[in-house]
Amino acid sequence: MRQPSAFLVRVWLASLSLSLGVHAHPFVEQPKGIELHIPRTASGASIEHKTSFSSFSFEPAFWVEFFGNASQPNELTFQLLSHIIERGVQPTIRPGGITMDSLIFDASASDPVRTMNEEGGVYRTTVGPAYYESWSNFPTGTKFVSTLNFGNESLDIARDMAVASAQYQRDKILYFELGNEPTNYPPERWDNSTEAYIRQWQDWTESIDEAVEGDLSRGKWWASSATTDNTSLHVRPADLIPAGVDSTGQVSEYSIHSYAFSTCDPKRAALATIPNILNHTELVRYADEEIYPSAKAALDSGKGWVIGEFNSISCSGAPNVSDTFAQALWVVDVQLIYAVRNASAVYLHQGATLVFQSSQQVNEAADDGSPGYSTYDLFYPRDSSKRGHARALPSYVSQLFLAEALNTPETRVRALETPEGLSEDHFSAYAFYSDGALRKLALINMQLYFANSTSDHTVSFDVSQHCGPQGKAWVKRMTAPYVDTGETELVTWAGQSFENGSPIGRVEVEEVRRNGIVEVKGSEAVLVLFNEGDVYGW
Ligand SMILES: *[C@@H]1O[C@H](CO)[C@@H](O)[C@H](O)[C@H]1NC(C)=O
Ligand SMILES: *[C@@H]1O[C@H](CO)[C@@H](O)[C@H](O)[C@H]1NC(C)=O
Ligand SMILES: *[C@@H]1O[C@H](CO)[C@@H](O)[C@H](O)[C@H]1NC(C)=O
Ligand SMILES: *[C@@H]1O[C@H](CO)[C@@H](O)[C@H](O)[C@H]1NC(C)=O
Ligand SMILES: *[C@@H]1O[C@H](CO)[C@@H](O)[C@H](O)[C@H]1NC(C)=O
Ligand SMILES: *[C@@H]1O[C@H](CO)[C@@H](O)[C@H](O)[C@H]1NC(C)=O
Ligand SMILES: *[C@@H]1O[C@H](CO)[C@@H](O)[C@H](O)[C@H]1NC(C)=O
Ligand SMILES: *[C@@H]1O[C@H](CO)[C@@H](O)[C@H](O)[C@H]1NC(C)=O
Repeated sequence: MRQPSAFLVRVWLASLSLSLGVHAHPFVEQPKGIELHIPRTASGASIEHKTSFSSFSFEPAFWVEFFGNASQPNELTFQLLSHIIERGVQPTIRPGGITMDSLIFDASASDPVRTMNEEGGVYRTTVGPAYYESWSNFPTGTKFVSTLNFGNESLDIARDMAVASAQYQRDKILYFELGNEPTNYPPERWDNSTEAYIRQWQDWTESIDEAVEGDLSRGKWWASSATTDNTSLHVRPADLIPAGVDSTGQVSEYSIHSYAFSTCDPKRAALATIPNILNHTELVRYADEEIYPSAKAALDSGKGWVIGEFNSISCSGAPNVSDTFAQALWVVDVQLIYAVRNASAVYLHQGATLVFQSSQQVNEAADDGSPGYSTYDLFYPRDSSKRGHARALPSYVSQLFLAEALNTPETRVRALETPEGLSEDHFSAYAFYSDGALRKLALINMQLYFANSTSDHTVSFDVSQHCGPQGKAWVKRMTAPYVDTGETELVTWAGQSFENGSPIGRVEVEEVRRNGIVEVKGSEAVLVLFNEGDVYGW
């Protein structure tokens, strides 16, 4: 018991108001907060989530920049990863993305090497055994997706990668994936025919199963990996499932990629703004209209689905948008939107500008062709002429928030209704259940708070009804001075900032006072914990 006197006062006040049978006793400070409707049981909430729900995708061409090599791992990366994992979660790693479709294994090669033009365009990434050996630098228990090149249309290339991955790291492989975003392949390769695509995919996965020792890949395949684009080759899960992609029983999960905003061309770049990426109504619309039909097709077929790759703004983000605190709020909200829609996992993409992706994109590589790290990344893994010193970005803390929200195994998540008086566009809330009981609550106030704002948009919530018998709850806060804050040292999770990989500052846990009020400022998110044992790091 930390504060016996406060506790006694609360009991006394509670019994006083009970004995008087009224709510409005003149001596009792009245809760003035907004009450949320939070069902007490998990009935109707999501599937039970694994602690691998929040996972990562890394563009393989930049593997060495992000992770170093087997003998010299990138310290910043592994430090940042360790803070996430020590909170009790276990992200899976997908070395995937566009450059996986020109990735080649060569037994005589070593660390990954890019073959590029002068502008930094990546034609090929060659990896040797050292690439797979570097997987051993990840914390114990880390699992991987073995990603294979479908883009070069060479079964030998794809099969050699699969065999090498199994030879060097068979215990670490959870899934196999053949090709990235077939929606972007030349459709002539299959004459616009979904059936022809499926035939080749089934032939190759079958041949690879036979080549990989011990049936490691059989039935472990991700299928689709499409973007949401309605291209002339229809290969999203919603297209592939009715066309029979799983007729040979190869599919483990269906993967779809989610990028609601883009800087690939000027028209879409104009829409990639902080107000737009923090419009919750629009984020939900995209999830329901673009993603959910494929998710539902997967679930109805009895298989799971994942967001195999996603981030806020395709073509490497938007400077001054995705490298600000707005991105942290976006990550938390979007991951929970997909948790509620029963994704088995979501793989947040990290990488750098790919100059072949679009000739009219906003971002570019550095002048000397060195990587122009994506501004939606959680961190810049190395010093670079384009992005400055290696550091965590403001969005890094989103992973700590999500880790502490989802670290209880078998957590079920529910989106709460927007209480009256709050804007649907600017508010979202999620309840977390474990063993059927309410354990945690996320409150995200997405009202924009800039330095020039005339109000800080603070909302007071009353959570007293959901506190335990002792009327207690604890709060951790993800905050920054403003929504567009770009300085990582000013962005905190529970009082700590992480710019250079080490936590700065003391852990701050707020105890909910006896009136049950939790205040959340505009452009801020909090995690409310109803069990003291769930308060990490205290
Ligand atoms: C690993 O990377 C370091 C630093 O870049 C380099 O000096 C070393 O030669 C590399 N090791 C191997 C085995 O390639
Ligand atoms: C693989 O395809 C890419 C283009 O997608 C091409 O630049 C590269 O040369 C191809 N590699 C091989 C080994 O065929
Ligand atoms: C594929 O579809 C596109 C768009 O519908 C069409 O323009 C193209 O001619 C088709 N290609 C083939 C090979 O059928
Ligand atoms: C996809 O595009 C085709 C035309 O190419 C159209 O007939 C179809 O309705 C579209 N599907 C969706 C889901 O938008
Ligand atoms: C948020 O998005 C919805 C759906 O796209 C739109 O109708 C609404 O006007 C947007 N709200 C704001 C404040 O931009
Ligand atoms: C981002 O903001 C900085 C500082 O306000 C400004 O100098 C820069 O031009 C902006 N960059 C872009 C791409 O808008
Ligand atoms: C998610 O799964 C739960 C539990 O099976 C189910 O009740 C719920 O309807 C599903 N939600 C969606 C959006 O599919
Ligand atoms: C307030 O600041 C934001 C971000 O810098 C800017 O977009 C907006 O136009 C400003 N609003 C006013 C009223 O000056």
